[in-house]
Amino acid sequence: MKVITYEKILETADYIKSKINLKPDIALILGSGLGSFTDNITDRIEIPYEEIPNFPISTVKGHGGKLVIGKLNGKNVIAMKGRIHFYEGYSMQETTFPIRVFKLLGAEKLLTVSAVGAINTNYHSGDIVIINDYIKLTSLSPLLGTNMEEFGERFPNMNGNTSLIPIMKNIFNNNFVKPIEAVYAFMAGPQYETKAEVNMLRMLGADVVGMSTVPEIIVAKHANMEVCSLGCVTNAVSDADNLSHEEVLQASEKAKDKLTKIILDFIKEI
Ligand code: HPA
Repeated sequence: MKVITYEKILETADYIKSKINLKPDIALILGSGLGSFTDNITDRIEIPYEEIPNFPISTVKGHGGKLVIGKLNGKNVIAMKGRIHFYEGYSMQETTFPIRVFKLLGAEKLLTVSAVGAINTNYHSGDIVIINDYIKLTSLSPLLGTNMEEFGERFPNMNGNTSLIPIMKNIFNNNFVKPIEAVYAFMAGPQYETKAEVNMLRMLGADVVGMSTVPEIIVAKHANMEVCSLGCVTNAVSDADNLSHEEVLQASEKAKDKLTKIILDFIKEI
């Protein structure tokens, strides 16, 4: 496990700055099956993760592995094609390293999209939800250790930085998609939940469950970035007896057109 220091983050940001000639307005992190969204970015520069000093490398099927920087609907964007997950064996600090790099590049906003399982029985495969709160079911945090004062305070508030959520709700309404707000439970994975765990999550008040997103939200809010996270419901967790990663990828493929339109409209609006 690499020790993450402010100098390392700065070194990585400087490397990326030397390759691009724009300041990103927003960073995008796109999860399982949604990597091809970056094809919509024009005037783009692509940098494979392995070429970027100190950058973690995504190992999951369905996740690409490069940064795509360019223009999208009138805004400057930096997108991760391929996400880094805690379950790949990276520390929470490594998992969220890219967010801090994006902040140093000038991005003050973050949009994440991830596959989620539905705990709430009213949700169905293909639904897109707006994550308005989370429950982190591990005592680990990407902020453990010496605080990086350059980014934010020791004890950051996690309930703020929500100004993008009403904008996203409007975009849903304009697209005739019901804006469902959901509480996301973070499970470290990579194994899917047992029936007992699903019952526990329901009792705790979670609507959806996933293995990403929360570490990223924490680090972004610590750095005072505005965050909006979408979940693409790929399965009902109560049907999880036969759940496979292929099924998750297929379901996100089905929701892709709707999601693409929503993200494009959102980028225009922010
Ligand atoms: N559990 C956890 N993460 C997930 C699931 C699930 O059922 N579906 C998609 N991501």
